[in-house]
Amino acid sequence: ACGTRIDAAVLIEGDRIAWVGAAADAKHVSSRFARSTTDQSSPGEGAPSVVARGAQRRDETRRTDVSVVDAGGRAVIPGFVDSHTHLVFGGDRADEFEARMAGTPYAAGGIRRTVLATRAATDDELRTRLAGFVAELRAQGTTTFEIKTGYGLTVHDEARLARLAAEVTPEVTFLGAHVVPADYAERREEYIDLVCGEMLHACAPHARWIDVFCERGAFDRDESERVLAAGIAHGLEARVHGNQLGPGEGVRLAVALGAASVDHCTYLEEADVAALAGSGTVATLLPGVEFSTRQPYPDARRLIDAGVTVALASDCNPGSSFTSSMPLMIALAVREMGMTTPEAVWAATAGGAQALRRRDVGVIAPGNRADLVLLDAPTRTHLAYRPGVPLIARVWKDGLPG
Ligand code: NIG
Ligand code: FE
Repeated sequence: ACGTRIDAAVLIEGDRIAWVGAAADAKHVSSRFARSTTDQSSPGEGAPSVVARGAQRRDETRRTDVSVVDAGGRAVIPGFVDSHTHLVFGGDRADEFEARMAGTPYAAGGIRRTVLATRAATDDELRTRLAGFVAELRAQGTTTFEIKTGYGLTVHDEARLARLAAEVTPEVTFLGAHVVPADYAERREEYIDLVCGEMLHACAPHARWIDVFCERGAFDRDESERVLAAGIAHGLEARVHGNQLGPGEGVRLAVALGAASVDHCTYLEEADVAALAGSGTVATLLPGVEFSTRQPYPDARRLIDAGVTVALASDCNPGSSFTSSMPLMIALAVREMGMTTPEAVWAATAGGAQALRRRDVGVIAPGNRADLVLLDAPTRTHLAYRPGVPLIARVWKDGLPG
């Protein structure tokens, strides 16, 4: 984790961060590039992100131009890295949410409703909706995001979702093993064969990752291992949905296979925590799910104290967590999961980058992508301290303001 800088400046060149340092030195450094102005002090506090006074950008196409943004004492943090979403789908399940709030428990079976609505939607309908979500993420400060398939569950529809997702992100995950679709209910073996064979073949060209929902009611350990092993053999990297609805083998399977991340981690036994602690597998916590399903929140403190790397993600999907707000995840992590605000902001940026095995995002450092968020607040603490308030003043993605 990198620390906070007070009275800092960030210099952007093209799509990358060129320099990070004291605002007082920025004039010096940026004279290399052209004219510049800087400024003075700002409040700040210890740990992960960066507080900058001036963010500056140089447009590659107009080599003599330097534009200077005076942050005016407000905090600048890395763009959020949302490492877990399911953004390509049709339909809506607001009725299930209402029922849950009235006491009906969440059941993964609702996934099949979204599968039917998704299959019925045209490419253009899905693409238009997806573009809306991408804009929604961006407006909330998310500059890198992963998208899973998993609402098609036929060769044709899974490939379609993977292709549409790949139009908006390089981080596409093939999740043909989300649930066994209704028409295969009596022949699950056959469905798993399909996922590991023809479906994987059709989706892999668009995907970087292979995922499986390892949970009672979805896929057991052996089935999950088959799916992940097939994906890995096909050149994909593994990530896992595990331990969401109860204790299970998802976490240990993810660690055993060297998965980049195991996501949910709501119900953990000591052996799970120990396995994660000695591993390169990130525990990605998805508190939007617990918020929206009235489940107990995962214990982030226990994981961090054991030495586990923790990420936060939205899991944005129409069933268990229909929010794309990383600031909300941070507020929930701080209020409900025992994280400090610096830990939560780190988990939503650098942690997400680790969960996606990305070294070029999530941290404000020279050489990294110029993905920055200017907050309408003097410290990142305000993300949890002022929950529900739109604090994202400006966002830069690959050096471009939007
Ligand atoms: O990550 N856990 C499995 N899949 C999603 C939920 C999908 C749905 O309910 O539609 C999740 O929570
Ligand atoms: Fe999910």
